[in-house]
Amino acid sequence: MPSTFSSRLPGFYDMSLEARLRRIAEIAALPNEVRSVLEPEGGLSAEQADHMIENVIGVFGLPLGVATNFVINGREVLIPMAIEEPSVVAGASYMAKLARQGGGFRAESTEPLMIAQVQLLDVPNLTKAAKALQERKAEILARADQVDSVITELGGGARDLEARPFKKTAVGPMLVVHLIYDTRDAMGANALNTAAEAIAPLLEEVTGGRAHLRIVSNLADRRIARASCTIPLEALAYDQFSGERVRDGIVEAWALAEADPYRASTHNKGIMNGVDAVVIATGNDWRAVEAGAHAYAARSGRYTSLSRWWIEDEGSLAGELEMPMAVGIVGGATKVHPTAKACLALLDVSSAREVAEIVVSLGLAQNLAALRSLATEGIQRGHMELHARQVAIAAGAEGAQITRVAQQMASEGAVRLDRARELLREKGKKGK
Ligand code: MEV
Repeated sequence: MPSTFSSRLPGFYDMSLEARLRRIAEIAALPNEVRSVLEPEGGLSAEQADHMIENVIGVFGLPLGVATNFVINGREVLIPMAIEEPSVVAGASYMAKLARQGGGFRAESTEPLMIAQVQLLDVPNLTKAAKALQERKAEILARADQVDSVITELGGGARDLEARPFKKTAVGPMLVVHLIYDTRDAMGANALNTAAEAIAPLLEEVTGGRAHLRIVSNLADRRIARASCTIPLEALAYDQFSGERVRDGIVEAWALAEADPYRASTHNKGIMNGVDAVVIATGNDWRAVEAGAHAYAARSGRYTSLSRWWIEDEGSLAGELEMPMAVGIVGGATKVHPTAKACLALLDVSSAREVAEIVVSLGLAQNLAALRSLATEGIQRGHMELHARQVAIAAGAEGAQITRVAQQMASEGAVRLDRARELLREKGKKGK
């Protein structure tokens, strides 16, 4: 869907919260009912929360920001991010600005195929059972297709069956059956769990085994999203750092994550800063996405980086992120949580695959932001400025004073309450 606006919003950072929401609502043409949900008093009510989980005593808030500057597959996108950590939204937005200079992000995704597992114990003959399953596959898939008529009517449903024999486990041999199921625009865990339970008796009959676990797998390696970007050398240069220095530093930093799980875990955490923020904002199950991400990162038997960075022939920096992305736009909190619905409206997507492609693009941008800082001035300077703003506010700074006092303290390397008060006094306003 082509966008009618630009996600480049110069000065957005310096606007008041109200003005930012007004601007977003205006440019994304958000209907009034969507906009009012995003206002401070909008969002999830205690009553709605009470219907979502058990023993509810209240509602937990998180800052909701918007990442700007994103162009994904040629489309301008404003990305809502729910996250408590400073620098993440700013980092993603800034990297998206650099990526724009190389045409933005390119993203793609596979069909939304999820896996459900049925564990079969006490199977008399694993080889014969696996063969019998293949012979009666059509019947088993048809049984699985009976469980969710909405998904099958939309063109989804059971696609394939795989038998995975484990000759030796802690409790002896077992056969694990994978049901491959197209969930269309749903995340699909519920449909998969129901289908696994529905086919279990038939699997017992066919294999002579005893069905035990029947549950979705979060290693959604059939449901992959991929994003890539190219950053021209000139876009990478800043302060005293040349484009070459930044580019080579990023590739060197990535090489450590590729080689060493201790670094890969932190590197991937940085990717998940972006991934989780939009997964949460859209009401999706971020634990499922996290579980899938880390299992995928270890699929070779050695935990490694989810992303890859390299130097193109003509000298630009190129990056790619590939990971499982089990997200939906129907069902669960995506349709119940008012803010999640508003965030999906802001993304202006018509399929779960589009959301998946946006999520990985944001993850890649976040990875770039972290590597760029780490490979040059270190991560603390940016953090320091944000910390300085908080100290300035605590000292009583208001409006434009906040940035002035924070910048002064950061440049002096003296981010302290007493210094903030002193700076405020110097300007004629008594610090509190
Ligand atoms: C902090 O939330 C994320 C980083 O540690 C990621 C990284 O080290 O790549 C900065």
